Amino acid sequence: MKALVLSGGSGTRLRPVSHSLPKQLVPLANQPLLAHVLRGVRDLGITEVGMVVPAGTAQIEKTLGDGSRHGVTITYLPQDAPRGLAHAVAIARVYLDDEDFLLHLGDNLLPDGLGDPAAEFRRRRAAAHLLVQKVTDPRPYGVVELDRIGRVTRLVEKPRRPRSDLALVGACFLTPVVHQAIEAIRPGPRGELELTDAVQWLVDQGVVVHASEYAGYWRDIADSDDVLAANRHLLAGVEPVRDGDVDPFSVLGPRVRVEHGARVVRSRVDGPAIIGAGSVIDGSHLGPYTSIGPGCVVRDSDVSSTVVLDEARICGVRRLVDSLVGRAVTIERGDPRRGCRVVCGDDARVEIPG
Ligand code: TTP
Repeated sequence: MKALVLSGGSGTRLRPVSHSLPKQLVPLANQPLLAHVLRGVRDLGITEVGMVVPAGTAQIEKTLGDGSRHGVTITYLPQDAPRGLAHAVAIARVYLDDEDFLLHLGDNLLPDGLGDPAAEFRRRRAAAHLLVQKVTDPRPYGVVELDRIGRVTRLVEKPRRPRSDLALVGACFLTPVVHQAIEAIRPGPRGELELTDAVQWLVDQGVVVHASEYAGYWRDIADSDDVLAANRHLLAGVEPVRDGDVDPFSVLGPRVRVEHGARVVRSRVDGPAIIGAGSVIDGSHLGPYTSIGPGCVVRDSDVSSTVVLDEARICGVRRLVDSLVGRAVTIERGDPRRGCRVVCGDDARVEIPG
């Protein structure tokens, strides 16, 4: 079986970070989201991965290369524009070559793996095997209605009045009949070729589509709150590692990973936390659930529950919380007599205590 990972799209909800970094490369526990996705794929024994990427940019290709570092072989499939999930499957049709496949959204984190659903797909042999999970507000998701034995009766994309609380998880197992369904459908109200419409078409033809409730952790990474929540989840399981230098005046909690070449000087790191390769933490406090990317400087600051991307500098900042700090961003203490001074790019968001 092959896997098809969808990493096109525009990532508008994760701006400004996604202006310059595809959201599928946003680091969670200092690893690009796609590295977590590929681990799940490889753990199923799948080594051939088709990766749909936006045409004209090569950031994902540059980061993942041929996939060998992740134990897979990646074939890149450029999509000219985000024309919908079903469109992304359509452009992969030749690559998929009339085989069953795992479809995985490149912005969905499923760190507990897909072993159980894969076994259920093999056992039940439906035309499609979807994964669902109960959510309190299903409106931003594909919403699935099931009969008593887990067969899908209805699927609606982002309904205003959902008729079930079962949201579609961003991974499913599909058989080649889905290509016929995709050929039969037309773009929906958003102008996109919707996968939910293709699966609904199968259901309408009387084809059996199954769904099972996914028991593991699932997070659809749409915005900065999702990044922070997913990062918290992954950091909760971080193993202590001391590959960098920690001076005798520093105190580290039990779940702190200090990566290669990092330096911790006169600081307290409660953890769970990760300090990226080559970063310097000096005279600072890092509270729980903080990931500092590689090449950063945190000096005379207090940072908690925050994700900081590569090469950022945080200096003299009294209390930074629940934040997502982009690459090479500088946050520093200014002159209090002057007021706050910011230089923000498009779509940036800053909250200043009143
Ligand atoms: P979405 O989260 O639905 O879309 P998006 O990435 O454009 O985000 P936003 O709504 O904030 O603008 O996409 C789910 C995944 O599927 C994501 O990894 C991007 C990918 N995708 C494609 O590969 N091709 C597409 O045409 C679309 C719409 C999404």
